[in-house]
Amino acid sequence: MKTVHTKAELTADIERFKSEGKTIGFVPTMGALHAGHIELVSRCVRENDVCVVSVFVNPTQFNNPDDLKKYPRDVERDKALLEGVGCKLVFTPEPNEVYSQTELNTQFDFDFGGLDKVMEGKFRPGHFNGVVQIVEKLFKLVQPNKAYFGEKDFQQLSIIHRMVDIMKFDVEIIDCPIVREESGLAMSSRNERLTSEQRKKAIEISKVLFESRNFVPEMNPESLKAFVIDKINQIDVLEVEYFEIVDTTTLQAVNNWETSTVGCITVYCGEVRLIDNIRYK
Ligand code: PAF
Repeated sequence: MKTVHTKAELTADIERFKSEGKTIGFVPTMGALHAGHIELVSRCVRENDVCVVSVFVNPTQFNNPDDLKKYPRDVERDKALLEGVGCKLVFTPEPNEVYSQTELNTQFDFDFGGLDKVMEGKFRPGHFNGVVQIVEKLFKLVQPNKAYFGEKDFQQLSIIHRMVDIMKFDVEIIDCPIVREESGLAMSSRNERLTSEQRKKAIEISKVLFESRNFVPEMNPESLKAFVIDKINQIDVLEVEYFEIVDTTTLQAVNNWETSTVGCITVYCGEVRLIDNIRYK
């Protein structure tokens, strides 16, 4: 496995793969890799001639500087994990390598047709602009045939699909199911920041989500939403930021079970912000 830090080195390797007629699979990450990422990378290795992974904590998608500072980083450990599952090329740039100073200081603006105005978009203004800004740059550099994203970030995945349509990228986006710990807790780099006491409480998030499925379709979405929020907020150290039951295509809140629906939740466990979701239909 090779590690490159500059766009020039990355481009040289990509050109070589292309000239050899190889298919390229890509997994963009912010590092602090866990079993969920490794699942994406392993699938990428299986389905493509070469697997390229980026490890870059993207500053433009953090609206909270403290969150950016505390984001876990361990590139050496990440590289060992990636090598173990057959990744061929890792791109780990410095922010100045991918962004100009102006880009780092100005807010990028992209039209997501309303997908970004709800849930994460409402509570983390500018977040998805930053995600699209970096993913667009990475797609242009890596030129993948397939790119792999986890369904834990359901809203991000919807926005990436929209971005690919609008920008006409010739890439197949592969949606990968949420990977959970045995306890049900959705795998996340942020779980590393939980104390063992907090982790025990965090498990309740997925338990309540799974339980809520039993009440569909008898309970309407509004009552089910209230049930989930109430039950999680009763557990000390947990505080729901939002829970919305939305249409999987429009991401707008639903008031019946007629369309395909997903419940998306963000919960603070102490200071750690955790997200999860569950499909109802
Ligand atoms: O999901 C993530 O880890 C990030 O949002 C991504 C897609 C790597 C962009 O920085």
